Order: sequence, then C-alpha cells, then structure tokens
Amino acid sequence: MKLEEIRRDYLKGSLDREHLADDPIQQFNDWLEDALNAGIQDANAMTLATADAYGKPSARIVLLKGFDKDGFRFFTNFSSRKGAHLEVNNFGALLFYWPHLERQVRIEGAVTEISAEVSRAYFNERSYESRVSALTSPQSQPIPDREYLVRRVDEAIKKYGKDDIPKPQEWGGYRLKPEYFEFWQGRANRLHDRFRYTLVDGVWKINRLAP
Ligand SMILES: Cc1cc2nc3c(=O)[nH]c(=O)nc-3n(C[C@H](O)[C@H](O)[C@H](O)COP(=O)(O)O)c2cc1C
Repeated sequence: MKLEEIRRDYLKGSLDREHLADDPIQQFNDWLEDALNAGIQDANAMTLATADAYGKPSARIVLLKGFDKDGFRFFTNFSSRKGAHLEVNNFGALLFYWPHLERQVRIEGAVTEISAEVSRAYFNERSYESRVSALTSPQSQPIPDREYLVRRVDEAIKKYGKDDIPKPQEWGGYRLKPEYFEFWQGRANRLHDRFRYTLVDGVWKINRLAP
C-alpha cells in the first residue's frame, strides 16, 4: 500500500461569499441538512478536541445532539478524560468531515455544562439499554475485563427492573458556544474554498482563507 499515491480531486461543489449565510449557525444548519439529505451515516458525528492543563491535546468522536446560537450540545460522562480536560481548560474544538460532499466544518469556543434538568430530560428519552450503560460504565476508567461491565449491567437491571433508571450525577451534556467557524469546500487542483467567521464585538466577520 502506497499512501503517497492515494490522490483525488474534489469536484462536488464550490463556495462563494454570495452564497454564504451571514449567520454561521444558519450556514452550518444548511450544510448539516445537505449531509442528512445525502444519507451520510453519522452525519452528526463530530471530532471533539480538548486539551489538558498543559495544553496537551486529545480528540475523540461525539454525537451532536442539538445546536443554536447558545451552543453545540453533546452528551457524555463528566468524569471521562474529556471531562477532566474541560474542568481545567474549558476551550474546545469541533470538527465535522462529510467526505461524500467534500466538506469540512470547524467550530471553536468555550464549553460549559448544560443544566442537570436538561440533561435529565435528554437522558430519559434514551433507550432503557443506553440508560443502563450510562449508569454502569465508568467512562475512560480502566476496568479489569468485559465481564466487569456485564456484571454491573446485570446488577443494575436486577436493582431497578423496569423502573426508571436514575441519571448518574456524572452524566450529562456540554455546550460549546462558538466564537469561530470555518467552512471548507474541496475544489479541483487543491484550490479549495475556505471561509472563516470570527466574532468581533458581537458581529460575525467573514473572510476567505487561502487553502
Ligand atoms: C460514532 C461515535 C459516536 C460516539 N458518540 C459519543 C457520544 O455522543 N458521547 C460520548 O461520551 N462518547 C461517544 N463516543 C465515544 C468517544 O469517542 C470516546 O471513546 C469516549 O467519549 C471517551 O473519550 P475520552 O476518554 O476522551 O473522554 C462515540 C464514538 C463514536 C465512534
């Protein structure tokens, strides 16, 4: 396998200032809709990058569960590695890549916890099995073996039966409030279209960037 020989041109679309929304949330909404309409699997999957107290970064995929001007929301375990990072360094970056559309979106901003009530409401919408998993999985902690998880799930099912599974205190949502967006559309011959939005005195400023 020769990785250096893998090449392709990007020919699916173009992006110009005239067709960009003034509001990046609207622009993101339009592109996410395109991705969903194109049938892209996990179109709402995004890479979340965080960094520890020393600035050492780490990235993983999480699912976008909602967004508006107040932020991009995802759910997780606050005691996980990402949770520990966000505790000491509340800045995060999100990345979407939709290869079928040859598009990338980058979003950056401060991350805060969503209220426990809103997290509980979302938790209760999840399937019984997902709620049991959230309750029993000490996300990002070392465990002895898979049996350990299976045993904890069995114990929780025995304890709660068909009753409501309580949302664990350490499980809930975060919102990333965007202050930077970048939309990338692949073009032929590596002359891709890139536009960034930066928040200046509460107003979104748009610039084209060199690819
Ligand atoms: C497609 C996909 C979706 C995922 N969605 C989530 C999610 O919504 N929330 C979550 O906590 N982890 C999700 N994960 C697992 C994370 O990538 C990661 O393994 C986990 O959150 C622990 O990360 P951390 O140790 O950096 O905190 C997902 C993984 C994949 C591949």
